[in-house]
Amino acid sequence: MPELYFVNENKKINVEDGMNLRVVSNDSGVGVYSNIFKKLFNCRGKGMCGTCLVRIEGEKIEPPNEIENKKLKKKLPKDPNLRLACQLTISSDLKIHTL
Ligand code: FES
Repeated sequence: MPELYFVNENKKINVEDGMNLRVVSNDSGVGVYSNIFKKLFNCRGKGMCGTCLVRIEGEKIEPPNEIENKKLKKKLPKDPNLRLACQLTISSDLKIHTL
């Protein structure tokens, strides 16, 4: 059962393998949105708005999918740890920095 550590919020939660990062973080009350505007005005996990951008650390992280590669094409070369929470399937312990 992977453990998620939200660094800025200093909160840990345990989640089921294969869960979506945006869904579990919002369900846990931590959330991935850094302000109320991003929380209210986002694409609801479709990978279109970029408001769920997080920086992650972990040992076993799937590579960015096609949507992330397209949306983050200018940012990923500079910071390969950036991910869209709505596109990330959890498969190991992660440290998450909300941005
Ligand atoms: S919620 Fe819009 S890109 Fe993730």
